[in-house]
Amino acid sequence: MLTSKRILLVIAGGIAAYKSLDLIRRLRERGASVTPVLTKAAEEFVTPLSVSALAGAKVYRDLFDLTDEAEMGHIELSRSADLILVVPATADLMARMATGRADDLASTLLLATDTPVMVVPAMNVRMWTHPATQRNLATLKGDGIAVVGPVEGSMACGEFGPGRMSEVPEILAAVEDFFAEGPLKGRRILVTSGPTHEPIDPVRYIANRSSGAQGTAIAAALAALGAEVVFVTGPADVPSPAGVQVVKVQSAREMLEAVQAALPVEAAVFAAAVADWRVASASGSKIKKQPGGALPVLEFAENPDILATVSQMGPGRPPLVVGFAAETDDVVVNATAKRARKGCDWIVANDVRPETGIMGGSENAVILITDQGAEDWPRMTKEAVATRLAARIAETLETE
Ligand code: C5P
Repeated sequence: MLTSKRILLVIAGGIAAYKSLDLIRRLRERGASVTPVLTKAAEEFVTPLSVSALAGAKVYRDLFDLTDEAEMGHIELSRSADLILVVPATADLMARMATGRADDLASTLLLATDTPVMVVPAMNVRMWTHPATQRNLATLKGDGIAVVGPVEGSMACGEFGPGRMSEVPEILAAVEDFFAEGPLKGRRILVTSGPTHEPIDPVRYIANRSSGAQGTAIAAALAALGAEVVFVTGPADVPSPAGVQVVKVQSAREMLEAVQAALPVEAAVFAAAVADWRVASASGSKIKKQPGGALPVLEFAENPDILATVSQMGPGRPPLVVGFAAETDDVVVNATAKRARKGCDWIVANDVRPETGIMGGSENAVILITDQGAEDWPRMTKEAVATRLAARIAETLETE
């Protein structure tokens, strides 16, 4: 809930501006009040009247509106909010923010404020990937501005790629996380999830069977407790959760790199099903069938063990490292040995014999192995396992 939170919503001029109308409704449903500010260009996409009607509030449009200056100056306007939300944040507005311009009401408010700011970018894929926008993005992040999305997808201009604005539920989750007062507020936690894909050639790969469901549920449960979650995921079947920082990777080596870039964290949960081996030298071109039926021979190389690497890294090691063990027999014995071998603090062990239906299913039955021994958890949904694990992590970090 966002009861009595005051949100100053800056709507800039992009085709995604129409989504801000639904966002206003959803924010108000959750108890927030919304004061809208429209840029000149935004008025080409949404009308001040519809914005005002949905917000149940006056729309601010012009820096030189003297009546407003008498009622409430622009400085006052920007400071009377708990959060300034920019939806959509266009390439132009982000550039003006990054260089400290104050040439219209929106940019002036954003410069004159000490209220936290969250931007939700939306633009054409080339505009997003352009070095100028990426520079501006880095500047804004460095200034402490929160950034939600963008995501990959098809765009109004007919192109496909990153630059598409996050959907309303994701924006709401980010806003709720911002105001969350959970026990993990201010704690940065890393979660790996999904399988890794190890290329054989440009069209073939080897992988582990993993839907990513358990890792996704854990990341969502940690975020729900207020944690700042970095979610490093291989190509999973389930969508990434809202309200977390998503880093998509393909191979184990890419996953290790992303994990190391995410450090330091206060806890790390390694739920990914990382492939143990990769093809030693993946072919740069598609391997052709040989006339006469000669079969290709693949030579394997060992992948880095990400969990073991982080568990044994010495200085900078996260205070709490949690690994997973999928076992088909002697679960407790094998998982206990794994905990010692990898050097992690906890192992979440599960019995993945095919008859359990756990692999790819919606339920899990886990045994938590800590330095206190093995703890049997009853069979429950993967979401319930995640909630219980997240609560346990919160409890442990609190007592440190
Ligand atoms: O050795 P095994 O694959 O059974 O260990 C499982 C645990 O180790 C999981 O937590 C998994 O995420 C992690 N792991 C890893 N990197 C690897 C292999 C496994 O992080 N290369």
